[in-house]
Amino acid sequence: MRYGYFDDEHREYVITRPDTPLPWLNYLGTDAYVGIISNTAGGYSCYRDARLRRLTRYRYNGVPADSGGRYLYLRDNRSGEYWSPSWQPTRGDLDSYECRHGLSYTRISSARLGVRAETLYFVPPGETLEVWRLRVRNERGGPADLSVFSSVEFCLWDAQDDATNFQRNYSTGEVEVDGGVIYHKTEYRERRDHFAYFACSEPLTGFDTQREEFLGPYRGWDRPLAVERGESANSVAHGWAPHGSHHVRFLLAPGETKEVIFLLGYWENPREAKFDPPGSQILNKALVRPVIDRWLRPETVAEGFRQLRESWSSRLSVLQVGTPDQDTNRMVNIWNPYQCMVTFAMSRSVSLFESGISRGIGFRDSCQDLLGFVQLAPGRARARILDLAATQLASGGAYHQYQPLTKTGNDAIGSGFNDDPLWLVLGVAAYLKETGDEAILDEPVPYADAADVRPPLQEHLERSLRYTLDRLGPHQLPLIGRADWNDCLNLNCFSAEPGQSFQTTENVAGDTAESVFIGGLFVLAAREYAPIAERRGRAAEARCYRAEAEKMAAVIAEHGWDGAWFRRAYDHSGRAVGSAADDEGQIFIEPQGICVMSGVGIDDGMAVRALDSVRERLATSHGILLLQPAYTSYHLELGEISSYPPGYKENGSVFCHTNPWVMIAEAMAGRGDAAFGYYQRINPSVREEISEVHRCEPYVYAQMIAGRDAPAQGEAKNSWLTGTAAWNLVAITQWILGIRAELDGLRVDPVLPAAWPGFTATRRFRGATYQISVRNPGTRLTHLEVDGRRIEGTLVPLAPPGATVHVTAGGQGQG
Ligand code: BGC
Ligand code: NOJ
Repeated sequence: MRYGYFDDEHREYVITRPDTPLPWLNYLGTDAYVGIISNTAGGYSCYRDARLRRLTRYRYNGVPADSGGRYLYLRDNRSGEYWSPSWQPTRGDLDSYECRHGLSYTRISSARLGVRAETLYFVPPGETLEVWRLRVRNERGGPADLSVFSSVEFCLWDAQDDATNFQRNYSTGEVEVDGGVIYHKTEYRERRDHFAYFACSEPLTGFDTQREEFLGPYRGWDRPLAVERGESANSVAHGWAPHGSHHVRFLLAPGETKEVIFLLGYWENPREAKFDPPGSQILNKALVRPVIDRWLRPETVAEGFRQLRESWSSRLSVLQVGTPDQDTNRMVNIWNPYQCMVTFAMSRSVSLFESGISRGIGFRDSCQDLLGFVQLAPGRARARILDLAATQLASGGAYHQYQPLTKTGNDAIGSGFNDDPLWLVLGVAAYLKETGDEAILDEPVPYADAADVRPPLQEHLERSLRYTLDRLGPHQLPLIGRADWNDCLNLNCFSAEPGQSFQTTENVAGDTAESVFIGGLFVLAAREYAPIAERRGRAAEARCYRAEAEKMAAVIAEHGWDGAWFRRAYDHSGRAVGSAADDEGQIFIEPQGICVMSGVGIDDGMAVRALDSVRERLATSHGILLLQPAYTSYHLELGEISSYPPGYKENGSVFCHTNPWVMIAEAMAGRGDAAFGYYQRINPSVREEISEVHRCEPYVYAQMIAGRDAPAQGEAKNSWLTGTAAWNLVAITQWILGIRAELDGLRVDPVLPAAWPGFTATRRFRGATYQISVRNPGTRLTHLEVDGRRIEGTLVPLAPPGATVHVTAGGQGQG
């Protein structure tokens, strides 16, 4: 069953009923000012940091769901009836409803009692504000006497403190109302130089800034007293809960439309010009007021929206494909890059499943996000790489995350994940291949625990590899540390205390437990690094890492092979994890994907054998399971993985992040049908028709889909912020369609499903445009036609910026 449909021409998903199985989210803003918005206008906004600079409140886990948002109320002043044009929070009957989630904007339209309303929400590029443009149209035979009430609840900035520290916070709230604008200025009197504002383009009939005055005692947003009464209290908040509500009243003739613009924004004043007059406690509004005035004008809003649309068209034009498969086209051309951009911007901080409080910018996560993002905005990728590298430690290890506002690393969600640094090598390699910007390797970047040392970025990469080699275990495989990619495989933890964090507790010294996965990742990273070192005149280093990669590959073949698949790890006592010798947890997906991707076992048949085992044991119609059989009881020696009920999360769900590794491995093995078959199973657009089972948004990937051991097999969770986005884009575009940026050119090496006649693509790469047309060769290509000339192999040489290059492949005589 569907709850809407894709409108590919407008790059929108159109939701046709408000009561989706879960709130279906979109994101506003991809830069400093960002927010989430659901299909019924729920959500919140923040500036740069969801924990430290939160503008508005949201009640995670609240009832009814999705509570706190960008709410509007329409009121018929003759009858006193009122409703929310976005359905929430009043949830009354609407005569029509439609939500269009587009790229960085959402438009919600509805009609009731002959009044049509449409609200467009977006953040104009480069601004630190969001626009809500409301259009109300009278479709009745007679005049309509209407009121509009707006409503936002301010958060007192630090979202963690805001949700817990009531003894202080009920006394600190402060606002000003001036010239129709509501300013939220809690703590501005002391150390904050920033405030939020909520403005309206119309003269106000009234306003409220004290939540309790607006709602009335013991009422919720579904029945605010001010709206019921048709009159604001003009309250000025002191303490308690600062809130923003405008009341606008107007008469509409039949057929007449009224446009009202609301702005919710963030502003920072220079410290020396905080107050006006100086020495007072009154906000200096001189700098922000012109910005407000400009954005309250309909022309500015229309132009800002046009620019937003255009910025997305230009970003997406980096790769557009025409394949025989509509689900592939819309994911590759629209939604998957969009999700990559959002995931890159937010890391793992703001979604329906991430509260914005506990997780900041993840080191491992962001390095992987880069793989899907780098071509969309290389400048931002560059800056992120340097920020990430600056949270690396002198040992080569890394802080597992940092707060975006302060850019300082922290151990709040654990430390000592031994895979972390290797991802930096992959992220930087992807950046170099896309941009050719080798100068980044010379950028001086400090170590987080040795700020006075600022080695060039290249040394950070070298140290990342060295970190693995310095930490080998009894089998010469890498030590796992706290955990590797799988946060929940905690082999040194031995936690028996209820509620104790698996991520931050380490009970035993970790000098025996080893990870085959990190072994494979090391081989991959070392093989990526060697040609980079070579280009930089570091031939000896290149040789060294090629040799180390060989050595590690041999160790994996010897100690990491279980007979029919790669093992996962060795636990603290030296026992193999992911082995047929066990009853449960016999086979894990991660080492099968990553080892094959790194080239281990390609020549001696192990790779194909491992992939066949994946098909036999892990593949389901909903995707590939992380492990089988799932653990049915808690294992002290394995940690969090066995804490999950079977079929969920790391204990045997379809952990979607890992599926593209197998797609890539299958493509490397030349098996296009298998690769594409796996791609389709988790493609959200394909799953749209089972939305009542999948339940999450059909336009973005979710982190997991419940596995076959779970009671709700096929149900997705943790949509939006997941490495699944980047890896799927990599798998489909770089390995199945085979269009890959490389250091010396653009690779065109597709591995297609047999039924496809071929595909076309346009790829912008290092300033040139490549028009690619492939007829399915049914096998690996051996040569290409580039501008009518035959070249051997599949690497299209770099063309000068501005050039258009025609690449055809798989034509007559190819194969
Ligand atoms: C989740 C993981 C997550 C980890 C770290 C675990 O509970 O299952 O997916 O990476 O916590 O926060
Ligand atoms: C989600 C985390 O963000 C990611 O870093 C980790 O690799 C996966 N969970 C698997 O545990």
